[in-house]
Amino acid sequence: MRITILGGGVMGEIITRSILNKHIVESDQLVIADIDESKRRRLSKNYGVKTAKSAVRNMDKTDLLIICLKPQGCGNILENLRGRIKKDALVISIMAGIGIKSLQTLLGHKNIVRSMPNIPARIGEGMTVWYSEKNIPHLQILLSKMVFQSFGKELEVFDENMIDAATAISGSGPAYIFYVAEKLISASESLGFGHKESLRMIRQTFQGAMDLWDETSLSPGHLRQMVTSEKGTTEAAISCFEKLGTGAVFNEGVNAAYKRAKELGKETGRIKK
Ligand SMILES: NC(=O)c1ccc[n+]([C@@H]2O[C@H](COP(=O)([O-])OP(=O)(O)OC[C@H]3O[C@@H](n4cnc5c(N)ncnc54)[C@H](OP(=O)(O)O)[C@@H]3O)[C@@H](O)[C@H]2O)c1
Repeated sequence: MRITILGGGVMGEIITRSILNKHIVESDQLVIADIDESKRRRLSKNYGVKTAKSAVRNMDKTDLLIICLKPQGCGNILENLRGRIKKDALVISIMAGIGIKSLQTLLGHKNIVRSMPNIPARIGEGMTVWYSEKNIPHLQILLSKMVFQSFGKELEVFDENMIDAATAISGSGPAYIFYVAEKLISASESLGFGHKESLRMIRQTFQGAMDLWDETSLSPGHLRQMVTSEKGTTEAAISCFEKLGTGAVFNEGVNAAYKRAKELGKETGRIKK
């Protein structure tokens, strides 16, 4: 089997490394197509893979094409591949916002799996939510799962809208967690802790809370109540968060991300590369 990764940026590199680490293919069976020569040189040196400036000439040998381009302006790049992809090849897209129908039209190809991974994929702890139409052969579904599992966990959804929803939840989710950490660091500093001390405390608090969640499998609500005694300090903080409408703020933020994911789908051709 031969794989082409289109776009050797952050995600393209993570996926390359994961696929090679799990021996889904060996390095001589994988080509990364990226427009940037210095990136191509580095990827080829680090992973022993072949590289190309464009994916066009590789398509007749590619069994699996993984599209890791930025959604903005990808239209032209994908249109260049139209009519060149092998009929029985599988295409996996990780691009935010671009729906299967648009991908099918741009590429002139049917077998497409649309997915949304997230950045912890970098350490093999990603969460990938994916969708495919019913016509995809079973073996290609298994192959897609193998690819997604090579960098973390995967979840299949049966309504394509849920990919945009997943973009707003798990796709952008790690950034929300880091945002909460940033706010806690500021709060910690305002109470007199130094930056290094705050980082250490908050990082371990996140780590400990996650490990506890993992190990107990209790719901977050249950775990929160376990540390919230009546008229205690945690209750004072949570009541304040509630009074300020933190839940509604999160809801609005996530909805803004969802709306943006929908808009991205309309921007495929606007920026020319
Ligand atoms: N990063 C994340 O956390 C994350 C999570 C989930 C999904 N995604 C999705 O993953 C996709 C890629 O994101 P990313 O963060 O990996 O972006 P990125 O680092 O910008 O990677 C895209 C790569 O494609 C290259 N490229 C541009 N035009 C090209 C062309 N004509 N032919 C070949 N390569 C070309 C870019 O080169 P230049 O830099 O020279 O333009 C860049 O190296 C996006 O669609 C995003 O929605 C990202």
